[in-house]
Amino acid sequence: MAMERTFVMLKPGTLQRRILGELISRFERKGLKIVALRLTRMSPELCGLHYAEHRDRDFFPDLTAYMTSGPVLAMALEGESAVTAARGLCGPTQTETAPPGTIRGDFGARTRKNIVHASDSPESAARELGLFFSPEDYHNWEDDNARWFV
Ligand code: CMP
Repeated sequence: MAMERTFVMLKPGTLQRRILGELISRFERKGLKIVALRLTRMSPELCGLHYAEHRDRDFFPDLTAYMTSGPVLAMALEGESAVTAARGLCGPTQTETAPPGTIRGDFGARTRKNIVHASDSPESAARELGLFFSPEDYHNWEDDNARWFV
């Protein structure tokens, strides 16, 4: 296993439903280390860059309208296999069939309005983190609990 940094975004529905703290908690309890946080409102341009691979899909206009409808919380998380760990907590993209216990399984009824995004590879994470954070946004604090998560 390798130490990784990944990107997670809590989408506008998270703030609307007042479950931001509850979802941040899930990532913290897993042992992932928050190294950057930013509450921001995405522009349509940023949405197009972030979701470049979906630009030609029929759901892209709906996705853009949703993602720009209110603030998102962008997070940079570090840990062993952080990409896989964060995606496991989120559950599969198809929210309708996501298992209970995952964020999408517990909180989402519709794939289009799913409330969380997590990078699918270290390469995607690096690209997506670069869209939301600058190098000076990262805090490399000493993790006194790291030994409990090895
Ligand atoms: P996310 O993990 O952020 O990545 C791309 C997003 O596009 C996804 O969550 C959903 O919000 C949306 N999406 C992906 N596939 C579909 C689909 N088949 N139908 C509707 N929306 C989708």
